[in-house]
Amino acid sequence: MDELIVVRDLRKSFSDGPVISGISFELKRGEVLGIVGPNGAGKSTLLRIIAGIIEADSGTVEVRGKIGYTPQDNLLLPWFNLEENILLAAKLSGVKEREAMERLTSIAEKLGIGEHLKKRVRDVSGGTARKAAIARSLIISPDILILDEPYTGLDRDSIDSLQSSLKRLREERMGMIIVSHQLGELTEISDRVIVLSHRPAKIVKEISWRNGNISWKELY
Ligand SMILES: Nc1ncnc2c1ncn2[C@@H]1O[C@H](COP(=O)(O)OP(=O)(O)OP(=O)(O)O)[C@@H](O)[C@H]1O
Ligand SMILES: [Mg+2]
Repeated sequence: MDELIVVRDLRKSFSDGPVISGISFELKRGEVLGIVGPNGAGKSTLLRIIAGIIEADSGTVEVRGKIGYTPQDNLLLPWFNLEENILLAAKLSGVKEREAMERLTSIAEKLGIGEHLKKRVRDVSGGTARKAAIARSLIISPDILILDEPYTGLDRDSIDSLQSSLKRLREERMGMIIVSHQLGELTEISDRVIVLSHRPAKIVKEISWRNGNISWKELY
């Protein structure tokens, strides 16, 4: 099977009403799927369900492989330096110390954060902190990388630098889901983008770029 994730008819409500209203999609090995939708649409809720942090009310999520999830707000521990934050995730996942150090060196090089590893979170730029949060997801060697708004708060140069790091990861045939509220940030990196409606989130469009041909499906 080539699918890393299969989501079927997912639904979720909070006390003030529905947030996700029947979402289905697949993620294939080596594919980068972009998810775009307005603020408050339900994007982070969808990712939290896929990452197993919260439960859906109904529907199914099948995951084949390990997920590395980077939440919207990084959730780095401010009193730790970047390296300690990243290695803590390795330790919690049972990665041996030596293996973790080897992985750290290679990931830090790919993301270009090697020189900042000994700095505390509060002493690095937003872009570097973002990359450290992504490095923390990568240290467990995931099959699927899920990024919630990776570009928010970054300037043009930091966005470009993060984009090139993500493209390098994509060459390793990792499946990726990248969420953003701006389509423009997703077009270069994604193979396919699904567009969500405002709360409750439903897929209203699907745009794909496969083999240089753009196809556009309206789904509402
Ligand atoms: N735990 C919760 N309890 C109640 N309501 C929630 C909870 N989590 C999210 N919501 C609500 O669900 C809706 C969707 O939130 P969510 O964070 O998934 O949106 P989003 O698309 O990620 O938005 P943004 O672009 O601002 O990140 C919002 O109206 C939010 O207030
Ligand atoms: Mg969000």
